Amino acid sequence: MSRTPGPVTLRAGSVADLDAVSIVMREAFDARFGEAWTPAQCLGMLSLPGVWLTLAEQDEGIAGFALSRAVMDEGELLLIATRPAAQGRGVGGMLLRSVIDDARRRTLSRLHLEVRAGNAAVELYKREGFAKVGERPRYYRGRAGEAFDAHSYARTIP
Ligand SMILES: CC(C)(COP(=O)(O)OP(=O)(O)OC[C@H]1O[C@@H](n2cnc3c(N)ncnc32)[C@H](O)[C@@H]1OP(=O)(O)O)[C@@H](O)C(=O)NCCC(=O)NCCS
Repeated sequence: MSRTPGPVTLRAGSVADLDAVSIVMREAFDARFGEAWTPAQCLGMLSLPGVWLTLAEQDEGIAGFALSRAVMDEGELLLIATRPAAQGRGVGGMLLRSVIDDARRRTLSRLHLEVRAGNAAVELYKREGFAKVGERPRYYRGRAGEAFDAHSYARTIP
């Protein structure tokens, strides 16, 4: 019998959480498109200054995460994902709003992101104030070597 999911809480993550992050990533991203990162890529990125990990926890597990970085006075959302079983219940929105709040605390003026053309995540980004600012042809390399375009989105941080 399935039970009602418990409350979602957010916390800052660290290198110690990367195994759990990798599981969410493997489940959430469609391997055809080449958007997911390897554990080594995540570790390398999280070791850099200005990079932060946000975790959404639910029922003693990780339901989703966002990986972001600040460079000078601008920020970038590098990755965001929710476990498929937890999708469509607001976890992605909570994570994204938390990243926006972090960006404000870090006095960043703007947040950027890249999203594969056709990824339904665009609707979430638009809902949270991002607008399309450009296109990056052949940005993602899929499993079979084929290329997929990305669209660049950005929003200001008031
Ligand atoms: C994008 C993602 C993080 C959203 O997480 P979530 O917890 O479902 O987010 P929310 O419940 O707050 O919002 C869901 C909204 O995202 C959009 N959306 C994203 N992916 C969707 C999908 N596969 N199907 C339908 N809507 C989707 C919809 O607008 C939806 O709004 P709605 O529920 O009102 O229809 C999640 O779908 C995911 O992990 N996708 C795979 C990884 C990915 O592509 N990440 C983005 C690129 S880094």
